[in-house]
Formats: sequence, C-alpha cells, structure tokens
Amino acid sequence: MTAQPVLKTDLTQTQLVKPCLVSSELDIELNKELKKSTKSKFSKAAASYNTHANVQKRAASDLFALIKPGINKNMLCVDLGAGPLVNTHTLQSVFASVVAMDLSLDMLQSSDLTTPKICADMDNLPLQANSVDVIYSNFAVQWSANFSALMQSLYSILKPGGQAYISTVVEGSLNEIKTAFAALDSNSHINTFNSALYINQSVQKAGFTINSAQKHIYTDEYTTPLKAIASIKAIGATTQNHINTRQGLLTKSALQKVCSAYPLINNKACVSYHVVLLSLEKH
Ligand SMILES: C[S@@+](CC[C@H](N)C(=O)[O-])C[C@H]1O[C@@H](n2cnc3c(N)ncnc32)[C@H](O)[C@@H]1O
Repeated sequence: MTAQPVLKTDLTQTQLVKPCLVSSELDIELNKELKKSTKSKFSKAAASYNTHANVQKRAASDLFALIKPGINKNMLCVDLGAGPLVNTHTLQSVFASVVAMDLSLDMLQSSDLTTPKICADMDNLPLQANSVDVIYSNFAVQWSANFSALMQSLYSILKPGGQAYISTVVEGSLNEIKTAFAALDSNSHINTFNSALYINQSVQKAGFTINSAQKHIYTDEYTTPLKAIASIKAIGATTQNHINTRQGLLTKSALQKVCSAYPLINNKACVSYHVVLLSLEKH
C-alpha cells in the first residue's frame, strides 16, 4: 500500500516527512478493502461529521485536559486522524506547529484552517524517527489495522521526552446497536473493538510510560432508534473490520425489526462508546 501524497509542502520541519514504505506484499486483500471502505465512508461523512460528532467532542475535550501545561510553545504536534480538523485549532493555541494527518482527503479539505495537512495512512506513517514532540489523536486509532504496530511507530517518530495523547474506542462500545441487530440475524453489525487490556499491554510493549490511563463511557441520546442508528453513518463509522459482516441495505421490514429490538432507556435510544484516554511518554 502506498501512502497518499503530501498535500502541502509548506512544512517548516522539512526533515519531518520521509518516503513511505511500500508494503503491498504485507497487506492482505481484506485489509486493503477495509481501508478503502473506511476512507470512502469518512470522505462521504466529511460534510455532516461536525454536527453529529457529539461524543467525539466530549472525548477531545477530556483528552486536551491531559496535556501537560506550560512547556509546549516550541513544539511540533501531529493531530493523527484529524478528520475535519475539529481539534486542530485548539492544538494550535497550545503548540507552535500542528500537522493534521488523515486517511481521507475530503476530511482534510473540508476545513479552511491554515495548517500543514498530510493525507496518509496511520498504518504506514510517512514521518521520520525522532521528529515529533507531541501526538494528539482523538477517536481515530481504533481504525488502525494493527494497534500494537501503530504504537511502535508512534514511539519511534516521537523525540525522546515526547508525549502522546490518545483516545480510542474499546470493547463494549455500540452495544445497543449490537443488541438491536441481534434480532435480525447472527452476523455482527458493528466493528470489533480492542479490549482496554490489549491497549494497555500494547502501549507498554512499545516502550511508552503511561502517565495516565482513564476509561470513560460517553453516551449520546436519540429520540428514536432510527436516529441512533443513523448517527453512526453520519460520522462515517460504519465500516466493519471483520469478515462476518452483513452487507447491503436493510429492507423496510428488517429495519422495523431492528428498531423494535433497540433497547430504550427512559424512552431514549442511547449510543454508548467505551473510550480509553491515554497520556503517554517516550523516555
Ligand atoms: C471519528 S473521526 C475523528 C476525527 C477527529 N480526530 C475528532 O476528534 O473528531 C476518525 C478519523 O480517522 C480517520 N482515519 C481512519 N482510518 C485512518 C487511517 N488508517 N489513517 C489515518 N486516518 C484514519 C478517518 O478518516 C476520520 O477522519
């Protein structure tokens, strides 16, 4: 798989970008298809993302709160999986330079914010070792094909003393949607998420010191099950990262069945995300 081209070359840190590895022999066909599908769904969601990303905004703000104060003025930060640059502006107020990176070109282009943007795959990072001070990544690394390998690359690109602030969706998320679709068939209709334990083990194996690890459950409420299900689509998060997946549109009666089985709390259809927030350091 080749990485996408660098969109802007006005990086002040020209030593930052390295030629990408071409790892097509290593990429199995399924992985390529999933990447294509993820990219396409997030690209389609670029325009609607901002209005629907409520939970993501809450996680972003909790992740900002973990940033060590006061020492950041000369630092270069990479916003990994930046989406439509919703957090990049806040990051610019903290760090000297912020590079926004995302797999979806449409996501990056949907913002007018002036900042270096790189369209690239986090699983094939086009960044030099020891070149970045801070990585900020909100609600994105769950899309990596190999979380453990990603942690190792992030460790490598950080300078000694570098910090990584990462939130990622873990097991237990979207359980309401899972329950509703179980009324339809035995296929899985949601992504498989890593466990919090696996996340923890992977960051330690990569060599990071964990300064903080928190688990939060963020919940969005909708007035109908249909709106709850649609919310996943509106943020582009419908790609399923496993094979046992039912593809295609639901018939009207199938959709009705799913909606009737949706678990309601106080007459509201909730969508819950279990999220691990990490503050990591490279020594
Ligand atoms: C849920 S959005 C989060 C956007 C933003 N960080 C926020 O806090 O709202 C996830 C983003 O990750 C990006 N993404 C998914 N897979 C990726 C990959 N392999 N490499 C880089 N970005 C990826 C998607 O295109 C999408 O913009």
